[in-house]
Amino acid sequence: MRHPLVMGNWKLNGNKQMTGDLIDGLRKALSGVDGCDVAIAPPVIYLDQAKHALSGSHISLGAQNVDINLSGAFTGDISAEMLKDIGAKYIIIGHSERRTYHKESDEFIAKKFAVLKEAGLIPVLCIGETESENEAGKTEEVCARQIDAVLNALGADAFKDAVIAYEPIWAIGTGKSATPVQAQAIHQFIRQHIAKKDAAIAEQVIIQYGGSVNDKNAAELFTQPDIDGALVGGASLKADAFAVIVNAA
Ligand code: G3P
Repeated sequence: MRHPLVMGNWKLNGNKQMTGDLIDGLRKALSGVDGCDVAIAPPVIYLDQAKHALSGSHISLGAQNVDINLSGAFTGDISAEMLKDIGAKYIIIGHSERRTYHKESDEFIAKKFAVLKEAGLIPVLCIGETESENEAGKTEEVCARQIDAVLNALGADAFKDAVIAYEPIWAIGTGKSATPVQAQAIHQFIRQHIAKKDAAIAEQVIIQYGGSVNDKNAAELFTQPDIDGALVGGASLKADAFAVIVNAA
């Protein structure tokens, strides 16, 4: 039985005040929640503040990125061990915004996956197609390619205790979510794709949906058998909306 995971990706939003206020609001709104794993990923500079503010709650800390280098002369980099040291648990990699704006390749993202596993952290591997790829009927091909980069480099075992977030790029921040049926079809495809290598791991891997998830559409998305929670952007910045999504999961 898979435990759903709802994770808030704050992206490049917030300041010290907002981090404190939002976490206070989340702690209140989520105090009775059971049966769903919850995490938030604030900007890296607020992780330490967030860790302290989350102390004693069941909300886990996540981060939005990791670098592939472990230590040394890599100005500006943040290593997996540093994220672990500060108390992060789930680390988002391969987000389409990093693939697009920072030109991160499938192979580079697979290296990030490897350093996270090595450090005992949980990768949240984002995959998903552009609008034109979707219209050209290439959704499965793109998702398979993005997953194969990890499967080929690290094997199916790497997906044990890992998370995949299917985030169609055309649905991110647009208010135009995939329908539950559309999302279920691709989630099922992703699970079956991994099952070709290892059925047990495919069965246990968490596959979140991301892309305009909000307090109105979450419940219906979560009725689908292969949708195991959500990676939430905009709606994770409002405690009440995020709490509705968590409760729906
Ligand atoms: O990682 C979450 C994300 O990209 C979805 O963003 O704002 O559409 O929920 P949003």
